[in-house]
Amino acid sequence: MSENDNNKTNFAKDIWQKDQDHFTHPWQLFDSFPQEGSLIMDRAEGAYVFDLEGNRYLDSVGGLWCTNIGQGREEMADAIAEQVKKLAYASPFVDITTVPAVQLASKLADLAPGSLNHVLYSCGGSTAIDSAYRLIQYYQNCRGLHEKKHVIARDGSYHGSTYVAMSIGGKKGDHPPEFDYKNDNIHHISNPNFYRSSGYSSEQEFLDFLVEELEQKILQLGADKVAAFFAEPILGAGGVIVPPAGYHQRTHEVCKKHDVLYVSDEVVTAFGRLGHWFASDAVFGFQPDIITCAKGLSSGYLPLGATIYSEEIHAVISEQGHGRYFAQGYTYSGHPVCCAAALKNIEIMERENMFENARTVGDYFGEQLKSLLDLPIVGEVRGYRLMQCVEFVANKDSKADFDESIDIGKIISDIADSKGLLVRPIVNLNVMSPPLIITKDDVDFIVRTLRESIIEAMDSLGYSA
Ligand SMILES: Cc1ncc(COP(=O)(O)O)c(C=O)c1O
Repeated sequence: MSENDNNKTNFAKDIWQKDQDHFTHPWQLFDSFPQEGSLIMDRAEGAYVFDLEGNRYLDSVGGLWCTNIGQGREEMADAIAEQVKKLAYASPFVDITTVPAVQLASKLADLAPGSLNHVLYSCGGSTAIDSAYRLIQYYQNCRGLHEKKHVIARDGSYHGSTYVAMSIGGKKGDHPPEFDYKNDNIHHISNPNFYRSSGYSSEQEFLDFLVEELEQKILQLGADKVAAFFAEPILGAGGVIVPPAGYHQRTHEVCKKHDVLYVSDEVVTAFGRLGHWFASDAVFGFQPDIITCAKGLSSGYLPLGATIYSEEIHAVISEQGHGRYFAQGYTYSGHPVCCAAALKNIEIMERENMFENARTVGDYFGEQLKSLLDLPIVGEVRGYRLMQCVEFVANKDSKADFDESIDIGKIISDIADSKGLLVRPIVNLNVMSPPLIITKDDVDFIVRTLRESIIEAMDSLGYSA
């Protein structure tokens, strides 16, 4: 080993240790972290990332559902550097603005469906949800509907990690007892997961139940008390749950009927992941009142979120003659450098016709992954285009889960890591959301490697293939 290699190894060890000593990670597992530590990522090119030791991985997770245009683009670096040199920051408060923030808001108004023409900027998806929640309160108070503040969301949903966003989310695993949650006005109804439902003979029957359940919940709380319904078009972190066909249109109709705002959380599903700018209209055929987005908006190059809301809401909150002011926003709302990055990101998506690739390769991805269903521990493969998930079961007929202590998703993802593939383990799932630029060859590598990894995991657990 050369002296240079030795230094590199010492450097890696030092970072590994300091990471444990000083960086408390999101979702850190306090018991195992001191032994296992982190995989230290160092650089990236397109859909590939490299760790500090130089090992290369195909990043089928897309960072965290976010590196949509792929990494390492010089154009992005140039756009960011130019804006930093020109104007790194100006306050967005009250009556100061910047060119990138205005141009991006106007572009988002063009791209978003229907009358969604107004943008509240934030620093990511959680704060986009928080802003939506505060906007809803403001809107109802402006209408004089001071009691109309309850919110309905779904079990299994994920909406971020601020206090309110986490309270709206319904993933049990994200609600450990050591944290507290807001529960005085936030209610959860069923996860639209047909595979894990019981007692329904068809998806249609399950759908009828889900729609009825939402309406009953609104009536039980009182329509005059329910402000909004929060829903991801496809539940992401909750396990890539695609609701039964017609779910969004029908739940949207129920919301309209009872004057309940529909907040479509497109933090994952927007900006090409499902082959379109936004999935609510283009994939699911409905127009929400509010869309939250982040992630693919800037493809992870810089943090940015947006809450895009309707002309109807804006007309109410901005009505003249009340002396109202909108006491909501952040130092970094519409940060000019982040907005410049998002504008360049959108320009690249358009120029490279990237959504066409997301559609064709995304459809191929879904089809190829289904080939894993012949393996005895693969219970379901589900998703749409570049949002996919494999669910593992201990028994395929009964759908019995593996004991959580086995951590089957992690066993398989660790094996895949060692073969140069990153997949995201969530308990009994492996979740994938690759950059929009992946090729059919990349897909073949993912499916082949995942198959090998599952078989190795089965061998280690005593299953026969
Ligand atoms: C649907 C959804 N909403 C909100 C968020 C929170 O976004 P952020 O982590 O950028 O705050 C996420 C993050 O994964 C998400 O998947």
